[in-house]
Amino acid sequence: MQQTFDRYWFGYARWVTEWTNMMLNAPPHVSKILQSAARVREVAEAFVNGFDDPRSLFPWFMEAGEAEAFLQEAAIAAAERFDRRDFRRALGQFATGVTVVSTRAKDGRRVGITVNSFSSVSLDPPLVLWSLSRQSSTFEDFACANHFAINVLAANQHHLSRQFSTPLPDKFEGVECLEGTAGCPLLKGATAYFVCRNVRQFDGGDHVIFLGEVEEYKWNEGEPLVFHSGRYRVATRHPDIPE
Ligand SMILES: Cc1cc2nc3c(=O)[nH]c(=O)nc-3n(C[C@H](O)[C@H](O)[C@H](O)COP(=O)(O)O)c2cc1C
Repeated sequence: MQQTFDRYWFGYARWVTEWTNMMLNAPPHVSKILQSAARVREVAEAFVNGFDDPRSLFPWFMEAGEAEAFLQEAAIAAAERFDRRDFRRALGQFATGVTVVSTRAKDGRRVGITVNSFSSVSLDPPLVLWSLSRQSSTFEDFACANHFAINVLAANQHHLSRQFSTPLPDKFEGVECLEGTAGCPLLKGATAYFVCRNVRQFDGGDHVIFLGEVEEYKWNEGEPLVFHSGRYRVATRHPDIPE
């Protein structure tokens, strides 16, 4: 009986009692925590978690100095979170086309991913680049590939952009393709494709930049798919510029 009580007291009840006493007679730092919880998600989550497991409130909730340090850390985390979202919005002001970059994996699987980081680099030699998230399930396949193909999507291919930006077991299901060099899938209906030798990769933070030398390409004058401010758009003639 004594052992059971001790286990309960030292494992849980002592913390609940201390926390309840603290709430009944809240010192100034607790009021500050509660005010901060109304604004900062990180503080609110830590406070709510304390209802499930009061041990998680120690020592930051109980001591004024610890509380101050915790609130400062939470404010920094919140600022970083906000900045990332804001940074993405700023980047989204740059209108781009949309491509599907594809390759053939070593085991014969077709691999593809929606990419708008594509850019031309050099005419002589003919070089292009794009960047791939290190988190992508396709990462190893592209890192090991000798070739990849850039498929520039047409305005009516927005559904393919969605399909290739969703992690699916087979992103190519229902997609009509031809085969390029080294088995790279070429999407039918694209306004252009560039089949490239995977010449070099560069570190790009949480992405890796792929540099490709264009070995084969084809294009037509179809309407391009445009991506701007997180939305798909179509390109129209500028009203100020005569044809
Ligand atoms: C319009 C658009 C452009 C994208 N551009 C890129 C890009 O340049 N690089 C990248 O790694 N992911 C990009 N993505 C995200 C990937 O398409 C998406 O995260 C990926 O397909 C997820 O599946 P995976 O893990 O199978 O790769 C983009 C997504 C969209 C909708």
